[in-house]
Amino acid sequence: MCSKNVLLGKEIVIMAEDLTIMPGASKEEKYNALIPQIRSLTGGETDLTANLANIAAALHQTFGWLWVGFYLAKNEELVLGPFQGPVACTRIRYGRGVCGTAWKEQKSLLVPDVNAFPGHIACSSLSVAEIVVPVFDTQGKVAGVLDVDSEKYDVLDETDVRFLEEICAIILSFL
Ligand code: SME
Repeated sequence: MCSKNVLLGKEIVIMAEDLTIMPGASKEEKYNALIPQIRSLTGGETDLTANLANIAAALHQTFGWLWVGFYLAKNEELVLGPFQGPVACTRIRYGRGVCGTAWKEQKSLLVPDVNAFPGHIACSSLSVAEIVVPVFDTQGKVAGVLDVDSEKYDVLDETDVRFLEEICAIILSFL
C-alpha cells in the first residue's frame, strides 16, 4: 500500500511497507518492534506467498541472518517457499535434515552447531547454526517450517525460538 504526499512542491510516494528497525536495540526490543509491524504488513493481505515473502524479508532486514525463509509441506516433502539469502535446496523429505526433523517431531529445533546435528542438510557451507520452527495450521497439522541459518555461532538462542514461534502463530490467520 502506498500514499501520496507533497513535499517542497513535489509529489512523493510514501511506502506503508517501510520497516522500522532499531539498530543497537536488544534482540527482545527488535522482536517487540517487529511483531506488530508483521501483523500490520500481513493483516490486510490474504495471499500466503505475499505474506510469507514479506515476513522473510522483514526478518532478514532486521537481523541480517545468512538465510531466512519458509518450506511448505506438500505430500511427503517440504518444498522451498519465499526466502531471503543464498539459493537453497528446493525439496527436503519428511524426517530429513533439521527441517524435516522439526516437521516429523512437530516441534522447534535450535541447533547451535549444525555439525553436531546428524543428517543436517548443508544448503550453504557458510551456515553454522540454525533454528527451524514448524508452522501449524488450524487443525494443528504442520503446514510448513520457518528456517533461519546463521553464519555465526552464539547468535541464535531460545529467545529467537520464542519470538519466531510467535511469528509462526500469526501465519495461522492467513493459511
Ligand atoms: N539446513 C536445513 C536445510 C535447509 S537450508 O538450511 C536453507 C536442514 O538441515 O534441513
